[in-house]
Amino acid sequence: MQRIKDFVWTDEIFHESFKGLTMEKFLNKIIHGDCIEVMKEIPSDSIDVTFADPPFNLKKKYGTYKDEKEIDDYLNWCKRWILEMVRITKPSGSIFVHNIPKWLTFYTSFLNEVADFRHWIAWDAPTAPMGKTLQPSHYGILFYAKNQQENKFYEIRYPHRRCRKCGYLLKDYGGKKKILHPFGPLVSDVWSDIHRIRHNKHRDPHPCQLPVHLLERLILMSTDEGDVVLDPFMGTGTTAVAAARLGRKVIGIDLDPQYVEITERKLAQETPNSKVGDIWVSFHRDEIITIADKDWESLKSYFVIPEDMRHIDFEKIKTGSAIVATSPQTSQLHLDIQEKECDCY
Ligand SMILES: C[S@@+](CC[C@H](N)C(=O)[O-])C[C@H]1O[C@@H](n2cnc3c(N)ncnc32)[C@H](O)[C@@H]1O
Repeated sequence: MQRIKDFVWTDEIFHESFKGLTMEKFLNKIIHGDCIEVMKEIPSDSIDVTFADPPFNLKKKYGTYKDEKEIDDYLNWCKRWILEMVRITKPSGSIFVHNIPKWLTFYTSFLNEVADFRHWIAWDAPTAPMGKTLQPSHYGILFYAKNQQENKFYEIRYPHRRCRKCGYLLKDYGGKKKILHPFGPLVSDVWSDIHRIRHNKHRDPHPCQLPVHLLERLILMSTDEGDVVLDPFMGTGTTAVAAARLGRKVIGIDLDPQYVEITERKLAQETPNSKVGDIWVSFHRDEIITIADKDWESLKSYFVIPEDMRHIDFEKIKTGSAIVATSPQTSQLHLDIQEKECDCY
């Protein structure tokens, strides 16, 4: 896709003082402060992936931030941090922004001027009915490349979805079962297999905490081990935890000192161990739920794959009995892909 026009960085966004900046002092730090001011301290083209989950202007009760701006103020503010995110992202890097569709329609108009559109990911996550509207049932994650030609991107796979009762594949592949991928399909731009955090026992004292495996999927799709991920609205550390588990570096920023403290505490308990053998994968409740397609050739040696691939229709692939994986939930765990919740009635 063509950019609408070549963007000219304004004096405010791009100024001489960026010369000589270094981001090393921020690496693996969670910074208490205003994200625009902190990002101004970070050199251009220096971060592999920037991910933002800003306040949605829905009067949510945050510790410090008042989530209640006039529409113009909110959008002008959003444009300022979005432009900073793009400026600091490397030419090979990606920019992700999570929000409700209403605000994303404005974000695309800012982003199309400075970056290359790749995807609008619909994260299928139903919310409460609001009356006299269609029930909002997805959040959007805008996925932009700083430069489409140079963009680092890995196709990703998720496990086949199965009926909880009978174990059969939920999707009817007709006569194509013989050629199914043993692990599961490539992920599309609609993500239905990752749920919002439902139970309070899994939540921090924060009104809008994202699930870690959502961030892990984005990170596996767009980075390599050792790459740097920056989140300007860190909340209680979802992005930091995901990056740490996957052996990536992180820079986090939040306005609220309590959220920063919670993130630092959580980060101190993490080790980079979300792996099968030497291969980075994303787990949720002991199940591998995201792999990079490029890793399958190495990963498949850990699985017992049926000779007749039609058996995939009713049987999950299992791991060899001696195979162990490390995962964030427990340090050593026997791999056994768990069944999904049933979607059929
Ligand atoms: C939607 S929440 C992010 C939640 C996060 N993704 C998580 O999973 O925990 C937005 C966060 O932005 C923070 N915030 C609001 N304005 C900010 C600013 N100007 N700079 C940095 N953080 C800010 C709020 O304190 C809040 O924690």
